[in-house]
Amino acid sequence: MSFFAMPTGVLTLAATALLSLAGLGSGASLDEWRSRSIYQVMTDRFAPSVDIPFYLGSCHTELGVYCGGTWRGIKDNLDYIQGMNFDAIWISPIVAQLPQVTADGSSYAGYWQQDLFTLNSKYGTIDDLHELMDEVHKRGMLFMMDVIVNHMAYSGAVPDIEYSVLNPFNDKDYYHPYCEMDYSADNMTALQQCWLGSYYIPLVDLATDHDEVRDMFSDWISQMATNHSFDGLRIDAGANVDPDFFPGFMEAADMFATAEVYLSNETLACEWQETIPSLINYPLYWPLTAAFESKDGSMSDLVDMMSSQKKNHDVPRFANHTQDITRAMNVNAFVLMNDGIPIVYQGQEQHFTGGTEPFTNREVMWEYGFDFFAPLYQEIATLNTLRQHLFKLSGVNYGQKQTDVVHQDDHTMVMQKGEKGKQILTVLTNSGWDGDDESISFTTGYSSGDSLTDVLTCTTVSVGTGGTVKVTLSGGIPMVLFSTDDLADSTLCGTKGEKWGANTNITSTQTTRTTITTTMAGGSTSTSIAAATLPLVTQAQAYDAPSMSASASPSGLAGALPVNTMMAGSFAALAVVLTSGAVGAALGFGV
Ligand SMILES: *[C@@H]1O[C@H](CO)[C@@H](O)[C@H](O)[C@H]1NC(C)=O
Ligand SMILES: *[C@@H]1O[C@H](CO)[C@@H](O)[C@H](O)[C@H]1NC(C)=O
Ligand SMILES: *[C@@H]1O[C@H](CO)[C@@H](O)[C@H](O)[C@H]1NC(C)=O
Ligand SMILES: *[C@@H]1O[C@H](CO)[C@@H](O)[C@H](O)[C@H]1NC(C)=O
Ligand SMILES: *[C@@H]1O[C@H](CO)[C@@H](O)[C@H](O)[C@H]1NC(C)=O
Repeated sequence: MSFFAMPTGVLTLAATALLSLAGLGSGASLDEWRSRSIYQVMTDRFAPSVDIPFYLGSCHTELGVYCGGTWRGIKDNLDYIQGMNFDAIWISPIVAQLPQVTADGSSYAGYWQQDLFTLNSKYGTIDDLHELMDEVHKRGMLFMMDVIVNHMAYSGAVPDIEYSVLNPFNDKDYYHPYCEMDYSADNMTALQQCWLGSYYIPLVDLATDHDEVRDMFSDWISQMATNHSFDGLRIDAGANVDPDFFPGFMEAADMFATAEVYLSNETLACEWQETIPSLINYPLYWPLTAAFESKDGSMSDLVDMMSSQKKNHDVPRFANHTQDITRAMNVNAFVLMNDGIPIVYQGQEQHFTGGTEPFTNREVMWEYGFDFFAPLYQEIATLNTLRQHLFKLSGVNYGQKQTDVVHQDDHTMVMQKGEKGKQILTVLTNSGWDGDDESISFTTGYSSGDSLTDVLTCTTVSVGTGGTVKVTLSGGIPMVLFSTDDLADSTLCGTKGEKWGANTNITSTQTTRTTITTTMAGGSTSTSIAAATLPLVTQAQAYDAPSMSASASPSGLAGALPVNTMMAGSFAALAVVLTSGAVGAALGFGV
């Protein structure tokens, strides 16, 4: 089966957006987006508003119900996102949804729209939304809006649809006639004209090939751009919309857009690349997951797919395939250091394990607390910092320089990306925490005698003759090597105050180690050690600053989670990031 289209409406791991140069407008442009790293928030499952009562038990995610996350909850927890050094967020679609609780659950994910001119009141008010957008912009981050142009949703059998409840497409004539989606056929017409969803909860397929529908969508998106300040679009179910719909829509939106083209066949997926500036790289999801889910995974299939050209929310989380955290570290390193704009779906940093059936991959973030010390959180924070440093040093040359694979064997691969002498070498392995050590040697663009630092452990290696680098990977942990000299000012692996920014209250660093115990599929457990090097800040910055809102909403749980303690303890971790960029000052931490 070369097509793998799925009913839309869901979200899982991390992805990279493939960039092309199709028409672009201003909102924010491709160049403004290129250096960004995007955190994908599922609004209903991220954080509730502090002062709005919500259930205090745990939410039954498997029932597909609304759990109570809001726009205000996101705003109050931006520190958590920015703590990983993400500089863009993508949130769930914002428009009004079908109100019923159906056999397939509720519209909590935001992909069952009914009224494009009204906001989803479950997520909050227009003021809440605008305050969120303002706060995102104040922090120097960009805001990506998720939009659906493929369908409107209805609760009821196909022949009984009351078109009048769908706004503005309130007539049967705006839609394709019903046909059941056939996911198995290589039939582009069916893919674009047949209906997603089910017979009883149909996603009524809009006739996006009709001029009137196109004009109405162009008018709508330009009003949305005027009414709300967002910087880019993520277009849902792009593969189910004819590619010719997009040029007019993009021109009306006048900003960067990336589209979900959920096809494993990369030749077909690229047809949309002609008309949309960027595609979410689904073709890479399958080989990437397969390569790292066990030590039998195929590195060569992954390299093959990369050479012709990674992760998200309609697919099981990576940790659903293997709970070995070291493999997740490798996948994260791949996503953040590969070409394109990295996208990380909420919870990836907490090693959530949910699958797609039932939808256990939509875990409720606040039930787990917002752990700034989680090893994958720290890894992502480090790698986002490094990626931003690379853009600072090399500008767009970093983004545009394509990744080369400089080494590959059964269990390891090495990616090299960037300008000569300033390349990132991402050394990956699927051996796992209990695998054998892997000693490998590969030829790089560095010169003999250069010193490289692994930013994940802060150890150094020396480059040998002809640019040869020899390293040993143990315990399944990846390495991300970069020129030691050029790390200066990056805040990474520094011990001197200035390397952490201008905060004179940071006097030294500490290395925190955490033991992670993982229960394997058969019930046995494994442990691994994760370490993070953090600056020590003096007591003066203790956690009582009123502007530090990150703890506000979880503390609404009234002691159900040890969040306050954890937040206080993790302030140092947060400072790593805040002092490293221009954003620190805006946050009012006195940093
Ligand atoms: C992908 O689609 C192209 C164009 O339809 C086709 O030629 C090719 O065989 C397909 N590849 C696979 C692996 O199915
Ligand atoms: C934009 O705002 C105007 C004025 O409040 C309103 O009439 C219009 O319906 C809004 N458009 C959209 C797409 O929300
Ligand atoms: C493709 O799908 C369309 C719409 O369902 C159908 O009319 C057409 O016969 C299909 N073509 C092939 C070759 O199966
Ligand atoms: C993976 O997902 C499936 C289906 O949602 C779920 O039943 C299973 O418990 C998940 N596995 C883990 C390890 O969480
Ligand atoms: C450092 O600590 C002092 C109190 O010891 C405080 O007044 C000052 O604001 C802090 N400086 C920074 C940059 O956080």
